[in-house]
Amino acid sequence: MKNFEDKWHLIAIDGVAASGKSTTAKRLAGELGYNYLDTGAMYRTVALNLIQNGTDNDDNYAVISSLETAYIKVECKNDQMEIYLGDEEVSGKIRTNEVSKLTSQISAIPEVRKKMVELQRELVKGKDFIVEGRDIGTVVFPDADMKFFLTASVEVRAKRRYADLKENENSKTLDEIEKEIEERDLRDSTRAASPLVSAKDAIEVDTTDMTVNEQVKHLTRIIHTDMRKEPQVYAGE
Ligand code: DC
Repeated sequence: MKNFEDKWHLIAIDGVAASGKSTTAKRLAGELGYNYLDTGAMYRTVALNLIQNGTDNDDNYAVISSLETAYIKVECKNDQMEIYLGDEEVSGKIRTNEVSKLTSQISAIPEVRKKMVELQRELVKGKDFIVEGRDIGTVVFPDADMKFFLTASVEVRAKRRYADLKENENSKTLDEIEKEIEERDLRDSTRAASPLVSAKDAIEVDTTDMTVNEQVKHLTRIIHTDMRKEPQVYAGE
């Protein structure tokens, strides 16, 4: 166990697509009074920039060049995070299927990752943070105080995504979503640069049979046990 008392703290949450990382990380940040950083949103904003500029996404050189002019700004305050492309707040715009697909493609490019990792390390300096993504415990913050790796069966993840998308007039079937998730998992975990893998010292949590409240409760308990403090009472219990 690392020492939680004498410096700022960082908790890494990695895991497969739609395993509940974002919701859990955000809720945990609220519980613990930490800031919250969703690194997927940063890669998504790079992809949105490419789409908006009509860049040839298969041309790696063009994608890498776009990083020089993409002005991406992240503002984190407690469990709230805002992400800007230029002057525009784009949290909503980066959640489309088109952006998800392209993000998975361009996040395999080492130069894109290098730039995002630099930004991520800069952003968290000196503050307590919960950071979620794919490579947080392995590459970005290998010395994180605690690391979690979330998984869930692909069927359950597809159902969760289907329910989320349905609220936004989704036209996809459950089977199509399941296939997309499998494709993203495969791309994320087989890429050469920072593939999605669990850090050796990460605590793996299978969320297949857990509700969001149960996930938050489970992780909070582990964190408090690790801090050698009594578990606290929190919302949802
Ligand atoms: O968590 P998410 O679904 O918003 O992530 C979108 C994509 O970004 C996903 O395909 C994996 C990629 N990603 C990554 O490569 N590294 C991260 N730290 C976060 C996300």
